[in-house]
Amino acid sequence: MIGWFEDLEATHFLQLRNPPSIGMEKEWLESTAKDPNSVIWVIEVEGRGVGTTVIREIDWKNGFGTTGTLIGDRKMWGKGIGREVMQLRTRYAFTQLPLRKLKSSYFDGNVASGRAQAAAGYREIGRYRADRYVDGQWVDEVVTEVLREDWLKENSV
Ligand SMILES: CC(C)(COP(=O)(O)OP(=O)(O)OC[C@H]1O[C@@H](n2cnc3c(N)ncnc32)[C@H](O)[C@@H]1OP(=O)(O)O)[C@@H](O)C(=O)NCCC(=O)NCCS
Repeated sequence: MIGWFEDLEATHFLQLRNPPSIGMEKEWLESTAKDPNSVIWVIEVEGRGVGTTVIREIDWKNGFGTTGTLIGDRKMWGKGIGREVMQLRTRYAFTQLPLRKLKSSYFDGNVASGRAQAAAGYREIGRYRADRYVDGQWVDEVVTEVLREDWLKENSV
């Protein structure tokens, strides 16, 4: 997992762009596993971990959570994994958890993230303009969400 953060291409559109220490990574895994307001999955391809996806900061009272995905092994990009993972995660949130909304975002220019999110039902609802400094440029953060009621129009439970 630490190796995923060593690759500046893999982290191009992420907040964290330096590899954490083994101690920090273990602590993160431990605290995430114990966190009652997060669900995290490791994405495995043929038995090998290639990334993670998460619903975090779940607000049980208001029924929403925030999602994120990292496929850290770049050789695995562009094979439909991100789209499938986000579709499965949306289904899980709306059929296995009592959530009514998932929130997310991506940095402008992250076409794969935008398209994978769209395939999982997310829609752009606004932008923080020139919000993030990425490789010498200020880029917008595109804010997205998917509502259970909209998802249900195109998916059966
Ligand atoms: C973003 C990410 C999760 C997408 O997963 P992926 O498995 O590579 O994407 P998919 O193969 O499922 O492709 C999803 C869509 O993006 C398109 N796409 C994939 N790679 C692309 C690229 N480099 N440029 C343009 N479009 C691309 C695909 O054609 C597909 O479009 P479609 O649904 O219209 O057919 C993955 O690339 C990743 O983890 N990147 C690094 C971390 C990151 O940016 N995470 C998201 C933060 S918001």
